[in-house]
Amino acid sequence: MGYDLKMRVWRGDQEGGDLADYTVEVSEGEVVLDALHRLQATQTGDLAIRWNCKAGKCGSCSAEINGRPKLMCMTRLSDFEPTETITVTPMRAFPVIRDLVTDVSYNYEKAKELPYAELPPRDADGKRRMAQIDVERSQEFRKCIECFLCQDTCHVVRDHEENKPAFAGPRFFLRYAELDMHPLDTHDRRALAQGAAGLGMCNITKCCTEVCPEGIKITDNAIIPMKERVVDRKYDPLVWLGNKIGLR
Ligand code: SF4
Ligand code: F3S
Ligand code: FES
Repeated sequence: MGYDLKMRVWRGDQEGGDLADYTVEVSEGEVVLDALHRLQATQTGDLAIRWNCKAGKCGSCSAEINGRPKLMCMTRLSDFEPTETITVTPMRAFPVIRDLVTDVSYNYEKAKELPYAELPPRDADGKRRMAQIDVERSQEFRKCIECFLCQDTCHVVRDHEENKPAFAGPRFFLRYAELDMHPLDTHDRRALAQGAAGLGMCNITKCCTEVCPEGIKITDNAIIPMKERVVDRKYDPLVWLGNKIGLR
């Protein structure tokens, strides 16, 4: 059954903008992205939206729906009352390009700062071996679709552009943890995570975990273990002695 949905959509660019009111016909079972597509097709041909898969897998359609960071393609209209106005705004933590599309290049810059995995030589038979439990641990982290909703919601950068140079953000703490827990990787990223990536600025508010559409336990399974690893290194008596005598 169709009905008329009231929407407020942010329209504008780097120079500024405002919320615009629309009424669009929608059908039962549709998602917010469907409503915006119909708006584009019938009333606002120039509305800028980034999307790709419409299946919650490409991570492109991130925005804020009634102020909550969400994927537009995975947010059902049935989650709202039919009489309710749905407000869609661009992710607040990133600069707007136009309408609902933001410039997320901050994230790509942070990705570049992360040392890649460096593996030791292969075993004599040409293989590399690791325990199944280590393979399984990283599976959860590999579910990340790089929607950057966790980055958008984290209060350290959400309204603090000035913190961005010193803070990689939850998506990348996840990646630091994933690589650091890799049993074959030879890099030690703990000092980098704590220092240049700003792990110490995270005060474990868990907002990132709450908005992750993949349900990754970013805080409990990546950030807290990574913080523990950093502390272990700091208080490891051998590291302490090494620092004292200038070996590390
Ligand atoms: Fe998105 Fe979750 Fe990946 Fe963050 S960790 S970028 S919220 S999928
Ligand atoms: Fe930010 Fe998540 Fe830490 S929201 S403060 S990175 S627990
Ligand atoms: Fe791909 Fe929404 S369009 S995640």
